[in-house]
Amino acid sequence: MDLALLKETREGESRVALVPDHLEAFTKLGFRIRVQSGAGAAAGWTDQEYAEAGAVVAEDAAAAVEGARVVVKVLPPGPDEVARMPQGSLLVSFLSPAEPDPVPALVERGVDALALERVPRTTRAQRMDALSSQATAVGYVGALLAASHLTRFLPMLTTAAGTIPPARVLVLGAGVAGLQAIATARRLGARVRAYDIRAAAAEQVQSLGATFVQAALPEEAEVEGGYARELSGSEEERQHALLMEEVPAADAVITTAQIPGRPAPKLITAGMVERMAPGSVIVDLAADTGGNCEVSRPGETIHHGPATIVAPLQPASRLPQDASRMLGRNIAALLKEMVKEGDLVVSEEDDIVDAALVVREGRHRKAPKGG
Ligand SMILES: NC(=O)c1ccc[n+]([C@@H]2O[C@H](COP(=O)([O-])OP(=O)(O)OC[C@H]3O[C@@H](n4cnc5c(N)ncnc54)[C@H](O)[C@@H]3O)[C@@H](O)[C@H]2O)c1
Repeated sequence: MDLALLKETREGESRVALVPDHLEAFTKLGFRIRVQSGAGAAAGWTDQEYAEAGAVVAEDAAAAVEGARVVVKVLPPGPDEVARMPQGSLLVSFLSPAEPDPVPALVERGVDALALERVPRTTRAQRMDALSSQATAVGYVGALLAASHLTRFLPMLTTAAGTIPPARVLVLGAGVAGLQAIATARRLGARVRAYDIRAAAAEQVQSLGATFVQAALPEEAEVEGGYARELSGSEEERQHALLMEEVPAADAVITTAQIPGRPAPKLITAGMVERMAPGSVIVDLAADTGGNCEVSRPGETIHHGPATIVAPLQPASRLPQDASRMLGRNIAALLKEMVKEGDLVVSEEDDIVDAALVVREGRHRKAPKGG
């Protein structure tokens, strides 16, 4: 079984789907590994390190994927990449968000595809949960970006030159990324408040020493799998009234709110930004799905009224070494479950494969309800 590791092609993406330390697990499973030259360079690993770990280095993507049974990469493949993949091979990568959607091309090409974002959040699949591992990096990066763009300290300082009060950080969305942003901002000494529409997030926020902020919603906002649903018009009005108070009172706002399969909810309006204090910062970590702030420009840092708005694309790629280490472990765990007696078995009977398998033998398999 040949496994191809591709170099990422999207601008600004520095992660790699496997690092040299992961290769031994694959060779033990019976894979021969071909690494596209330069695949790990942006994350800090040389071709030689991959070769020393047992891989053959291929000079380009075409040579890497030739005859491959499995192709691994981080981001959804572009049309050129799909066109090169061998018919009947299995792609393992994120498939969403992507423009254009790679699924029709994969269907047409006859390439099977496991989408990392569709691995279920079950106990058995925890080691394969790439959404969580990457969201951990995203939240950490978000807190550091807020700290580095702020014009003031995060912690309280008592010095001979006077006492500096702690900065006020507001985190919107308290899932995996939001909780890591809270934890990181707290470690840096900020006073943190956090808002989520899922009531279950309250306890987790409070356990990190932050204050939970709620907009009283008439109905539970959590749906199957622990995800959030879209709000109705009247619920959005309540949310707007709450955030109109909360956002201008913060020195830094870090946003992470997502609804699976939908554009990110717009939580922060231009009016809220304009009411912030001079030197305030918004770090919009939902830029890949359109952003949580009305005036964010995905991929850019801009100034709007008194605030700086940072909206990085693929924020986890700003921490490429550890984000790649974690992602590679997730992918290795996923494939390990699928190798039976030295053969790769793509079985829809397996609940993890069943949930994550988006394309099978030229057929688009839709996400299960709530997933
Ligand atoms: N193995 C596990 O059991 C496991 C692992 C990871 C996550 N989870 C759970 O999965 C769920 C999703 O986590 P995630 O980090 O992938 O979430 P996500 O990335 O889909 O969304 C981020 C956060 O945004 C919130 N959000 C959505 N709309 C919002 C709005 N209008 N205002 C404020 N917040 C809004 C969501 O509630 C969520 O907390 C959570 O319940 C989490 O606890 C479980």
